[in-house]
Formats: sequence, structure tokens, C-alpha cells
Amino acid sequence: MSGISALLELDGKRIVVVGGAGLLGSKICEAISRAGARCVIADINVARAEEIAEKIGSDTGARPEVTTVSIVDPSSVDEMINSVARKIGGIDVLINSSYPRNSNYGRKFENVEFKDFCENVNLHLGGYFLVSQKVLEYFKANGGGVLLNMSSVYGMIAPRFRIYDGTAMTMPVEYAAIKSAIIHLTKYMAAYYAGNNIRVNCISLGGLWDHQPESFLSEYRKHCIDKGMLDAADVVGTVLFLASDMSRYVNGQNVCVDDGFTL
Ligand SMILES: NC(=O)c1ccc[n+]([C@@H]2O[C@H](COP(=O)([O-])OP(=O)(O)OC[C@H]3O[C@@H](n4cnc5c(N)ncnc54)[C@H](O)[C@@H]3O)[C@@H](O)[C@H]2O)c1
Repeated sequence: MSGISALLELDGKRIVVVGGAGLLGSKICEAISRAGARCVIADINVARAEEIAEKIGSDTGARPEVTTVSIVDPSSVDEMINSVARKIGGIDVLINSSYPRNSNYGRKFENVEFKDFCENVNLHLGGYFLVSQKVLEYFKANGGGVLLNMSSVYGMIAPRFRIYDGTAMTMPVEYAAIKSAIIHLTKYMAAYYAGNNIRVNCISLGGLWDHQPESFLSEYRKHCIDKGMLDAADVVGTVLFLASDMSRYVNGQNVCVDDGFTL
């Protein structure tokens, strides 16, 4: 294969998806498996990851490997990287789609306890930092690689709180702090590892449909151009692009996939 089609090709790329057992991560794993990548699902929920690997294997003929990881445990992240390298010979791309949070996550601003704010920032932003630090050093020692982290439209703009009226939902303050930080961390890390054949990007996606109340869905849709809340599958084209050599000169960027929500 040559030219543009070769750049799009994921054949042979060894891709680990952290949080690959989740709503978005599982769709990413399916898409990259279909595109010919060697996929490893790395997740704290191994039982769910095995179910997803089985399903992808029967649907695509390419069953992902599974490995356990807790993104907030340095030795677990080291072991995950070693285990992926043992299973498939190395890592070319790491996609972090994990979403750690504690049991008090999701409270309204005035009800968030200081310790919960700190814990959720540590789990999510701290965990994304830890995985990034470890895999970027791995890439540096092994000739390069691609890191792709997940941010959110709510790392880019202030929340549209009115769309939550009449529901028990809100947009947690920790999330705004975490996701905006991931966007800037992306630029920091891309600049820091310049010259090492390493690319670092993030995707800021809009809300994903997940059985939310109809009142919320219709209010949300008013801020979009076409569909409103997206399906996880709507984001995977951008993931494939950023994982492939097609995006060779896209580095340090926040790529927004939101049906116009942030316009
Ligand atoms: N769902 C949305 O509407 C939405 C919108 C914008 C951005 N995002 C972002 O997309 C990413 C994925 O979200 P999702 O909706 O698929 O979440 P999800 O909760 O469905 O999946 C997250 C996965 O992370 C795993 N996980 C949790 N803690 C972990 C830990 N400590 N170590 C390893 N794995 C851990 C879970 O087991 C789960 O499989 C997140 O970064 C999220 O912020 C989601």
C-alpha cells in the first residue's frame, strides 16, 4: 500500500487503550481492531474488559489482549506497560479513555467537600499525568510513539448549566478543572518531548448519549448543529486519524468533536 491509504493504515500498529472497557474506550477498541491494529484493553475492570474483548473478537475476528491497570498506582502503570510489551512486542500508540471518580463525584458546586475535590482531581488528572509520564518515557527510550488523551468540551467552555434544569444532573466542578488541565498538559508534553518522534494530542468530545433524560437531551440539542449528544462511535474516526500516520504533523493539539456545541 502507498500514498494516502498507507498513511491511514493502522495495520501492525500496537495500540493500548486505557479505560478500554468503558463507553467510549470499548468503541475505540472495536474500531482500531477493525482497522488492523494490535489492540490491548487496559482497565481496572478486567472482567468487563474480557467481555468486551470476547465480543470484539467474535465481531471482527481480531480479539484484543486484556491487561489490568490502575492509573493512579505507579507500579501498576509500570507493570501494564511491561505486560503490553510482553504480549504484543511494544507500544506504538497509547490512548487514555479512562474516567476514574470517587463515590461522591457529581455533587453540585456548593456541596462538594474539599477532600472529594482533591481526591477526584488526583484520581483523574493525577492518573492521566502518571500514565502520560510513564508512556512518554517508554516512547523516548523506544524510538517514539503517539499519546492521545481524552478531554471534553467542558475543558474548553463554561458549562451551560441551564440544560441540566429539572434533572438530578450537573456538570461537576472537578471535571472542568481536570479537563481544562488535560488540554494544557497536552501542549506541555508535546513541547517537552519535541525531537523524540513523539506526538501528544487530546480530543475534546461533546456529551455521549447514555440514557440521559429526554428533557436534558432536547436542551443539549439546541446548542448543536445536527445531532446533539453523540454516540461513542461518532468519535472514533477522529481517534483513528490521530492514531495513524495521517496526522503525522498534528502535535500538541486539542481536537474538538462536538457537533458544534462549543461554537
Ligand atoms: N461520556 C461522555 O459523555 C464524555 C464526554 C466528554 C468526554 N468524555 C471523556 O471520555 C473518557 C471516557 O469516558 P466514558 O464515558 O467512556 O467513561 P466510562 O466510565 O464509561 O469508562 C471509563 C473506564 O475507565 C475505567 N477506569 C476507571 N478508573 C480507572 C483506573 N483507576 N484505572 C484504570 N481504568 C479505570 C473504568 O473501569 C471504565 O472502563 C473520559 O476521559 C471522559 O471524561 C466522556
